[in-house]
Amino acid sequence: MKLCMIGTGYVGLVSGVCFSDLGNDVICVDKDINKINNLKKGIIPIYEPGLEELVLKNYKNKRLNFSTNLKESVLKSDIIFICVGTPTKKNSNSADLTQVFSAGKEISKSINKYKIIITKSTVPLTTGDELEKIIAKKVKKKNFSVVSNPEFLREGEAIRDFIYPDRVVVGSNDVKSRRILKNLYSPLVSKGAKYLSTNRRAAELIKYAANAFLATKITFINEIANLCEKTEIDVEDISIGIGLDKRIGSRFLRAGPAYGGSCFPKDTKAIVSTAEKFKTNLSIIKNVIKSNNNRSDLLLKRLAYIMRNKVKNKNISFLGVTFKANTDDMRDSSSLKLIPYLSRKGAKIKYYDPTGFKKEFKNVKNVKFSNSIQESIKGSDLIIIHTEWNDFKSINFKKFSKNKKLIIYDMRNIFSPSKIKKLGLKYFGIGR
Ligand code: UDX
Repeated sequence: MKLCMIGTGYVGLVSGVCFSDLGNDVICVDKDINKINNLKKGIIPIYEPGLEELVLKNYKNKRLNFSTNLKESVLKSDIIFICVGTPTKKNSNSADLTQVFSAGKEISKSINKYKIIITKSTVPLTTGDELEKIIAKKVKKKNFSVVSNPEFLREGEAIRDFIYPDRVVVGSNDVKSRRILKNLYSPLVSKGAKYLSTNRRAAELIKYAANAFLATKITFINEIANLCEKTEIDVEDISIGIGLDKRIGSRFLRAGPAYGGSCFPKDTKAIVSTAEKFKTNLSIIKNVIKSNNNRSDLLLKRLAYIMRNKVKNKNISFLGVTFKANTDDMRDSSSLKLIPYLSRKGAKIKYYDPTGFKKEFKNVKNVKFSNSIQESIKGSDLIIIHTEWNDFKSINFKKFSKNKKLIIYDMRNIFSPSKIKKLGLKYFGIGR
């Protein structure tokens, strides 16, 4: 089929490339001419393992193309995916849909035959209804369908999550678009993906409810971890012990420094805001947001305890600063609160991250980027493991540090406490 992806961020670029790899003709459209020219040269704007090879392969075999011309691209396509940003509005919890609706308006000027317009970006409940009204101003209802087809892609795993999804969710209010979408996704279904065809509003809500539930699951185990720290229990045992119950499941039960990223913080706020518009109080998700926001303060209190309230002039090494491993994304990473705070307390911080220097810390006093793990660790009094990169799992601390009083604060529980203690080092984890 002929597809057009509007927006070449995580969602648009990954989905577009994967659709082309499944044999469709795909045009990825973006207003940013530099981004488009770079993509044509195989320069990828996002850090996503495996994406560059797929772009080069499909661009070379002409199934994948890039353009800044939305009108022309829409005219050539049967299905148009809206994959633009839906950030949280300033001073509000609701999603900013300006880009979505302006894409809808542009598309409505270029509908020369029946087309399906799909919201792939995460959009609040009833956005499809609004979009349908916008397009209907210019186009007869029989010449288009507006469908919700939310993505469930995790940064760092996006290609795998697209090719091997747990499920494909399509929300459509008409038979014609349902049939076409089922056909589009048949290659994934034949590989074992579950397929749910439902109405448009249900699909919109499924996306938010899924992210809100995952954020709830993570916050749940993070709070259990707080209890474990006070009762000499290892939260990893609790995660395994409850995760073996198939009704709970073992995934997304890893205690950590708080959830971050471009989705959970945004989507939990947006679903609460949408519910308020429908006079519904989502009290659990509200408390998840509050608990997660407070988590950095909790970690800093524990840090003060670990350092015996002596942070000033201490040398602290941060290993990993992004919101999770296998991404370069700093959005809502807990390091954005932890590092500036420790700097204000007089600590001298060196951070190392496999994805390189971070502009976010450029103007923070006494914070330096180190080009290697060893350089970051050298001379440290405290090492904080902030993300769970595989690079960190086999560090030989004795080789890198002569400091007998070195403390390890493992915020991802990637090390065995007994092994670290056998080295004569002090070990603190999360919920341990
Ligand atoms: C998430 C959803 O997983 C994905 O389905 C959706 O499409 C987009 O949002 P992403 O934000 O890329 O994906 O990251 P994810 O892997 O879900 O992690 C989100 C945050 O939760 C990270 O900060 C991560 O460190 C944290 N996390 C995740 C935990 O603390 N514990 C866990 O067990 C899992």
